[in-house]
Amino acid sequence: MAASWFAVFRLRMRGKSVVVRHQVLNQVHNHTSVGTHVGASQVQAAPDHHSDEKENERRRLLHVVQAERQEQAERSVLISCHATNSEKKFLKHLSKYGDIKKHFFYQSFGLYAVVEYSSQESVASLLEHAAIPTVNHESMVPFKSRLLSLRSLASVGSADQQSGQHCQPQTSPPISELIQRLSREESIDQQITALTEAYQLTEENIRLRFLVCSLLKDIAAAYFPECTIRPFGSSVNGFGKLGCDLDMFLDLDGISGRNVKMPRSGLSLEYHMKSANSERAVTQSILSVIGECVDKFGPGCVGVQKILNARCPLVRFAHQPSGFQCDLTANNRVAMKSTELLYLYGELDPRVRSLVFGVRCWAQAHSVTSRIPGAWITNFSLTVMVLFFLQRRSPPIIPTLDHLRDLAGPADKSVIEDNDCTFVSDFSKIHIHRNTAALGQLLCEFFDFYASFAFNKMSINIRKGKEQNKPEVVPLHIQNPFETSLNISKNVNSTQLERFVALCRESVWILQQSATNSPSGESGATPWGLAALLQPLQVPGNKGRKRRSREPASERIKSLLESLKIKNQS
Ligand code: GTP
Ligand code: MG
Repeated sequence: MAASWFAVFRLRMRGKSVVVRHQVLNQVHNHTSVGTHVGASQVQAAPDHHSDEKENERRRLLHVVQAERQEQAERSVLISCHATNSEKKFLKHLSKYGDIKKHFFYQSFGLYAVVEYSSQESVASLLEHAAIPTVNHESMVPFKSRLLSLRSLASVGSADQQSGQHCQPQTSPPISELIQRLSREESIDQQITALTEAYQLTEENIRLRFLVCSLLKDIAAAYFPECTIRPFGSSVNGFGKLGCDLDMFLDLDGISGRNVKMPRSGLSLEYHMKSANSERAVTQSILSVIGECVDKFGPGCVGVQKILNARCPLVRFAHQPSGFQCDLTANNRVAMKSTELLYLYGELDPRVRSLVFGVRCWAQAHSVTSRIPGAWITNFSLTVMVLFFLQRRSPPIIPTLDHLRDLAGPADKSVIEDNDCTFVSDFSKIHIHRNTAALGQLLCEFFDFYASFAFNKMSINIRKGKEQNKPEVVPLHIQNPFETSLNISKNVNSTQLERFVALCRESVWILQQSATNSPSGESGATPWGLAALLQPLQVPGNKGRKRRSREPASERIKSLLESLKIKNQS
């Protein structure tokens, strides 16, 4: 359901609490969605304590949202629709098993439907009536799951007769189309908003992600009936782009964490369990067996690779019916905490998500990031760089992690493998400073900030919100927020870092041009502003750049920011 909404922030000015209303234009928000859909913000002072409370009510803890989504997924089935040319007929047939709460269709090498029933009994009834397929020349693994195929005895169904259903897109538009779309916008702020809206995960895509976790849980539950499989990373932290991978965490805490208290006297029973040399060895053997199971029995799961010797052991595979590239990990609680933290930062101010989307998309367009593992900057590192930059604004747009830890209550305490992962979960305790910078200005400042950052000496540290001396000699040092002795960007080599810096410089230049010439022509067909940044840029080695940077960067950025501010005011 789409609705415009107002994000309201309590701001502090001269010791007094002032509320500033961020009116978010064309913002799509759904209360049950993980990750708020965001838009550019126009900021105007409007004291409104009531809305402030409402805003805090709206923001919900990630684990609460996750629990709701998981429950929803367990009442859902995924159906390959080989043989239906009528949505009405389809729904009529499936309604025989119970009340359907929601359904949608999508294309992924064929037409699929996600159907959510009101109760789990309906799913049980549907499964009871589903038949085992009969294939003449093949043998089947008789593993029943909630991934089904719809067959028709009448010969009406064929792939090209399936155009009746409205399909929900599960992929983002191609970059060329996006560039054209952005070129028609009137300001860089609007461009960033449009980009975010085009690329962020949709309600349906989030549902599908939770459903795939739930289907996988059914496989793992053969060994561990009390397990849960939770999505983490960009699928749920609010920074996910359509088409991003699905990171999953096999949570066995329902078994090992929920322990019956031993009585002080008398007889009692305990489970006899197999032991292993280390926690890591246990994780490896569990993932090895589950990985084998997914490979041999998992409907729709293909290309299974067991990557068990990595720092974080995982099973990687493709889930064909959803089109998701999946990474299944276990015992990865710190990553769950990072996910919660990123989610919280994204919820604090709509500009956080928009800026992350803008920067991530820019990085992808210039191959600063890559799907292939290597010396590239990862999306996770890039997101932390954006957060750090926002902490370094004056006044800061988001608080430091140390500050969030200081605000934490007893229930927030979390220590994982000796790492302090505590931070506040109650949004109402977090006071945000007044900083009304517009998105276009922030994007430009981001590039300028990193174009001149002392990467050779300094480390990026969101815990302190200040650069720190680098503890080791590496091109890029970004302190892991929770495992503070680790560098989340230790894979990055100097070539990649230099490219990143050069692209930042070039981007400041392009934005400066746009600020003076934008938008071009009536149709706005010529890429400008953010759209121009997504086109191939000149990077080191080119002749033009030196000439462009003759004027000191700080001078150029000053004049650019001035012109952006004037535009904003007008
Ligand atoms: P995309 O998949 O690229 O959209 O982003 P992502 O945030 O999901 O990144 P990725 O799939 O690489 O990793 C999933 C999650 O694992 C991240 O969101 C982090 O929470 C965590 N993570 C990734 N890399 C690191 C790392 O180097 N150190 C730590 N501690 N956590 C990491
Ligand atoms: Mg991911």
